[in-house]
Amino acid sequence: MADTFETVGVVGLGTMGAGIAEVFARAGIAVVGVEADPAALERGRGHLEGSTGRALTRGRLTEAERAEILGRVTLTTSRDDLAGCDLVIEAIPEVMEYKRALFADLDRICKPSAVLATNTSSLSVTEIAATTSRPGRVVGMHFFNPAPVMRLVEVVRTVTTEDGLADDIAALARRLGKTPVTVGDRAGFVVNRLLLPYLNHAVVLLEHGLADRDGIDAAMRLGAGFPMGPLALLDLIGLDTSYEICEALFRESRERRHAPAPLLHELVAAGLLGRKSGRGFHGEE
Ligand code: CAA
Repeated sequence: MADTFETVGVVGLGTMGAGIAEVFARAGIAVVGVEADPAALERGRGHLEGSTGRALTRGRLTEAERAEILGRVTLTTSRDDLAGCDLVIEAIPEVMEYKRALFADLDRICKPSAVLATNTSSLSVTEIAATTSRPGRVVGMHFFNPAPVMRLVEVVRTVTTEDGLADDIAALARRLGKTPVTVGDRAGFVVNRLLLPYLNHAVVLLEHGLADRDGIDAAMRLGAGFPMGPLALLDLIGLDTSYEICEALFRESRERRHAPAPLLHELVAAGLLGRKSGRGFHGEE
């Protein structure tokens, strides 16, 4: 069944969307990448060229392989170009209103058999599915940053997802070289539900002056064996995304311990979003 996904659309070519497009193209699958306007499309192209260029420099890809991968990706600003896709993955900003409008549009544009997937990390897949006439064909397909490197895909099944679809998407994830874990539709799924309270708590400790930024990061890298310290990881994920996930956990649980740390809010309000904006807890000192 996973073999029936021969052309895949990706809507939104920010860090995650471009990474997801690369993952599919590397697996030999044709990709239609959509962005809202020409400038955003060029940024998306830049992500793809940068990431595959880095792999080339490191000797992980040859020039010919890189050209083949990039050649499989068609970039466009027209959603109508998604009409022939077997699967479309949405990776636009985490605003429910935008997602609902997009899914209503995709439902109109895409063929009835097409699967519509969201890469949301914090919003309800069930609610997104309910905006379409095919909630049975809607799932979450949640990748991790950086998408070409991280080996997990959370496959989110809702109460309306049709039987067998989560298994087909899990098989597709394996075809991409990833390991799927099927999860229910609860805020944060498994990874973010466990990870974000830890990252948020690191910000609280920084605020309380328990240790300085580099001390907290070094402590968790060297004392707990994490590849990155929590504040560096928040910068990688994006402070806005991290804030949204904490908010979603707080909304669902109504537990005070899930409330986003005030300092996280302060940095987001200041536009300091981490790597994507050049500065967060680290950067441009
Ligand atoms: N895009 C593509 N490839 C990348 C990359 C990127 N942004 N960043 C690193 N890589 C590749 C490198 O090219 C390198 O590949 P090769 O080994 O083939 O040469 C490999 O990853 C390792 O990179 P580096 O040697 O530069 O650096 P590193 O060993 O320190 O690893 C890291 C970097 C993979 C990011 C590692 O630090 C790590 O695993 N960090 C934790 C990341 C993590 O936890 N991500 C999940 C966040 S939660 C999330 O994403 C969910 C959500 O909804 C918010």
